[in-house]
Amino acid sequence: MQYSQKVLDHFMHPRNVGKMDNPDATATEGSPACGDQVTVFLKVNEQDMTIEDISFLSYGCASNIATASIVTDLAKGKTLDEAKQITWRDAMEALDGLPPVKVHCSVLAADTLQTAISNYEIAHGLKEVPNFSKETIVEELKKIIYPKVGEDIVSLKMVKYVGLNDGEVLIDLNIMSFDQWRDNIAEEIREHLEKYPEVKDIQINFP
Ligand code: FES
Repeated sequence: MQYSQKVLDHFMHPRNVGKMDNPDATATEGSPACGDQVTVFLKVNEQDMTIEDISFLSYGCASNIATASIVTDLAKGKTLDEAKQITWRDAMEALDGLPPVKVHCSVLAADTLQTAISNYEIAHGLKEVPNFSKETIVEELKKIIYPKVGEDIVSLKMVKYVGLNDGEVLIDLNIMSFDQWRDNIAEEIREHLEKYPEVKDIQINFP
């Protein structure tokens, strides 16, 4: 597998690694694609709402370490609002790219940062716990990467329809039966959505 020099550098010399004592917020997320995990710790300056300190623990692959390293580097010193704009695409770009099957590692790192920020805001009354809606489902689908090309299934127009009715989720996917990734994608969708207590049933349809 071909890794850029930057990926190798952040893997071998990860920045901001380690457990933080008394963080203001923390989040642990796992990747349904592979089971790897990342924990992010935040210290926030309440005067100017900047991320004063940030660190991570990785329980995963080399790209998991490298992407968590770059994401925490990108977030350090930024205001919470600025850090909320950091996406997995920014992480990928800052690392000069990742092999397609490893793109989901950057999604995990960026997602964990965003959850830590969200946890901080909820704990400090800066935002309400968001309601589960169709938008929540679409946001989760945007985190699912089609491993063959390293792009998310929404951008690739693989999602034809999303429905939500009384906790029952209905998703129509435009993925053919001969596609070797079809079952993985369906499984990943279930794992992303099952964590929400509002979801009672998930139905995924194919052509
Ligand atoms: Fe899953 Fe890297 S986080 S293989």
